[in-house]
Amino acid sequence: MEKLGFNKIYNMDCVEGMKCIPDNTIDLVVTDPPFAINFKAKRNNYHRTASRVLEGYNEISKEKYFDFTLEWMKEVYRILKESGSMYVFSGWNNLKDILIAIDKLGFVTINHIIWKYQFGVVTKRKFVTSHYHCLYVCKNDEKRKFSPYSRYNKESKSQTGKSLHYEDKEDVWIIKREYWTGDQKTPTKLPAELVKKILMYSSEEQDIILDPFLGSGQVAVVSKMLNRQYVGFEIVKEYYEFAKERLEKNLYRIKEDYKESTQTLLKLFDSGKTRYGKSKMVCLKSTKQIAKKLKHIPKLWDGRNSILKMKKANFSHWKQMEWIGFYFQFLCGKHLSKVMDIPGPKYGRVEFDGFKNIPWDFKAHAMNTSSHQIIVNDSEATAKAIKDYGAVGLILALGKVLYNDEDRTFQKWHEALKGGKSKYEMERVKRGAWSRIRKVSFDLQQVSFIKITDNTLVKCGSFQRDFRNAGGQPRREKVLLDLEKIDKELIYFIEF
Ligand SMILES: C[S@@+](CC[C@H](N)C(=O)[O-])C[C@H]1O[C@@H](n2cnc3c(N)ncnc32)[C@H](O)[C@@H]1O
Repeated sequence: MEKLGFNKIYNMDCVEGMKCIPDNTIDLVVTDPPFAINFKAKRNNYHRTASRVLEGYNEISKEKYFDFTLEWMKEVYRILKESGSMYVFSGWNNLKDILIAIDKLGFVTINHIIWKYQFGVVTKRKFVTSHYHCLYVCKNDEKRKFSPYSRYNKESKSQTGKSLHYEDKEDVWIIKREYWTGDQKTPTKLPAELVKKILMYSSEEQDIILDPFLGSGQVAVVSKMLNRQYVGFEIVKEYYEFAKERLEKNLYRIKEDYKESTQTLLKLFDSGKTRYGKSKMVCLKSTKQIAKKLKHIPKLWDGRNSILKMKKANFSHWKQMEWIGFYFQFLCGKHLSKVMDIPGPKYGRVEFDGFKNIPWDFKAHAMNTSSHQIIVNDSEATAKAIKDYGAVGLILALGKVLYNDEDRTFQKWHEALKGGKSKYEMERVKRGAWSRIRKVSFDLQQVSFIKITDNTLVKCGSFQRDFRNAGGQPRREKVLLDLEKIDKELIYFIEF
C-alpha cells in the first residue's frame, strides 16, 4: 500500500496497515482486539437476533494469541508519539498475554481500569461475568497527555454532595452496553460513552486516533464526532463496509427499514391472555370508564404537532425531549379530568398522575425498542401507595415509534422553539454525554391498564439504581417494570 491517509479506514490486516504509518505519528490508540474465546458471531446468543448480526468475526486461536498480541503491539509502540497513550480492552481469559506483551515492549502501565457492564443473563453454576479489563498504558509517562478536567471541574458535586470529578476518575467505570435493536450491528461493540470518556481525557481536537481492530467502527465514529482525526483497520469486509458507511453517512446507527424490525416488537397484550380474576373486579368497572374516554384520543402522534399543541395549551412539559410520555399525560389530562382526579395523591415531592379508586400513572412505551422494561414512579412513594390503597395502576400507551432524526432537524426545530438549548442540554454537552436520537412520531396501538401490587414488584419489578439525570446528579430510586412479564396484572386494554 502506498501512503496511508488519515480520516480513512482500511479493509486489511492491521499489522500490514500499521507498517505504512511512520514512527511517532499517532496520538492515541483505543482498541478492543479479538479475544481468542472462540466467539461465534452468528450464533443467536445473548438475546441477539441472528439475522441482524453481521457475519465473519475474525478470531485468533488461544495458542497463537501471545505472538499475535506481540506483533500488533510492537507496531503500535513504534507509531505512537512520545506524548501518546493506548487503551487496550481485554476479557480475563487472555489478559495475561496482553499484560506480558505490554511489559515486554516497554510500555508504561498507568491504570488497570475495570469496565463494569450488565450482561443480563444469569448463570447457574458460576458468577456472571460483567466486566472487561482496560489497560491504560503509555510510551513516556513524563510526556503523556492527560486533561484532568475535561469532563468535570474540581467543584462539580452530585445532589448528595459527592465529588463528580472524583467519581469520574475512579478506575471502575460503570457504563451500560448499547443494545441496538432493529439495526444492523456487529456482535461486539464498545459503547460510545466509554470511547468518549477515553477520548476526552487522553486526546485533544485534531489528534490522530487509531483503532487497529475497528469492528463496527465505534472508535473511528466517536473520534469523528469529537473532532478528532481517525484511522483504523478491519480485516472482515462486511464489518469494514458497515463502519465505512457509518463514517461516510455521518450516521451513528444504521437502521433497517422501520417496518421490518417487527422481530423486536413487544407483543401487545391480547385477550387470550387476559384473565379477569376476582381481585381485578375491584378496578375493572372504573377502568372501563376511563378506557371509554381514552378511545377518543388520536392514533398517530406527530412530534411537532404534539409539541405545538402542548405549548399552545401552556402544558408545562412541552420543552421536554422525551415528548411522547408527556404528550400522553397531556392527552389524559384533557380526556380524563371528568372521570378521575388529576393529579393524584402526593407522597412528599412525588405525585401520581391521577386517582380513581387507586393512584394511577400515565406512561407511554415504544414497542420497538431494545428494552421492554419501563420506569414507573418513585419506589418509596409506590411502596407507600400500595400500602395505603392495596395497589397502584399504570395506564400505558403502547405504540410504534419512528426514530428518524439522523440529521437532527427535529431536534434543532425543538431547540429553536425553546429559544436555545436547555440547561440540561448545556450540561450534557459539557459532560460530553451522547445526545439521544429524537423520536419523531408515535403510532398508538393499544392502551393497557396494569395493576401493580407488592406481588407484581416481586415478580417483575426491580429498582432502578445508580442512574443519573442529565445534569449528572444521581436520581432517586424508581420502580422498573418488565412488560414482558406482565400477565395477571393486566386489568383491561383498548386497541387502536
Ligand atoms: C472485538 S472486535 C472490535 C469491536 C470494536 N471495538 C467495536 O466497537 O465494534 C475485534 C475486531 O478485530 C477484527 N480483526 C481480527 N484480526 C484482525 C487483524 N489482524 N486486522 C484487523 N482487524 C482484525 C475482527 O474481525 C473484529 O471485528
